[in-house]
Amino acid sequence: MLAGITVGGGGAFAKEKHKDIVNVSHRGASGHAPEHTLIAYDMGEKMHGDYIEIDLQMTKDGHLIAMHDEKVDRTTDGTGYVKDMTLAEIKELDAGSWFNEKYPEYANPEYEGLQVPTLEEVFQKFKKNNSYYIETKSPEIYPGMEKELLRLVDKYDINKDKLLVQSFSQDSLKIMHELDPSVKLVQLISYGSYATITDEQIAEVKEYAMGVGPNHTHLNEEYIQKVVNSGLEIHPYTVNDKERMQQLIDWGVTGMFTNFPDLLHEVKKGR
Ligand code: G3P
Ligand code: CA
Repeated sequence: MLAGITVGGGGAFAKEKHKDIVNVSHRGASGHAPEHTLIAYDMGEKMHGDYIEIDLQMTKDGHLIAMHDEKVDRTTDGTGYVKDMTLAEIKELDAGSWFNEKYPEYANPEYEGLQVPTLEEVFQKFKKNNSYYIETKSPEIYPGMEKELLRLVDKYDINKDKLLVQSFSQDSLKIMHELDPSVKLVQLISYGSYATITDEQIAEVKEYAMGVGPNHTHLNEEYIQKVVNSGLEIHPYTVNDKERMQQLIDWGVTGMFTNFPDLLHEVKKGR
């Protein structure tokens, strides 16, 4: 995994600023609706998100489901680890009511009783030509999840030109790359302080990925320009504030993850 190592020199660079900023609906339009529900994904589409972001977990009986946490506790009315539950048990859970309680300003009775979707259901609803940005979560506890993801991508004939697979796990991305080098990959990175990246780290990522996804909080213009000038894409997560969106665009990012794709759309339109 990439570590924050200081970049020496920091010489002159040609400034790159991108017009076509990729708008990624993070867990769907999850600022407006319960994350990782079909309604949240649908809302992301309507709010001009370019990609549906999907975090994957795997059930005890081997089904890939859309959920951020390893445990169901935060986003459903259940308790326990996904890896210990069957899909039938997961389907019993209410994945919407928690949102109404936590965010009364966005509450909607339609969210009550929403189910946790499987990846298959997402592909069935949004079809093969949609744009998916799929994260292998906790791949070390779900051996084989990459293979199962690719099986479903092939089963539903998902357009690979519009598919991105992301992970914090370099191992998981390398497995994906080995299984199917045609799938485009993004290396997620988490920085705890001022973000730096070396030429060697960039070269290593470029062996298997087309971009990086760092947390936006510790980014700086030098980092962004260095990455972009190397030919990698850079999609920071998770940006929910219009001023910060504009700053990152001015610094040269090629896209970003947001819970509010409507806000990023406004920024892109200069509103
Ligand atoms: O995938 C980008 C971003 O979502 C990574 O963080 O924890 O929200 O999955 P997380
Ligand atoms: Ca994610």
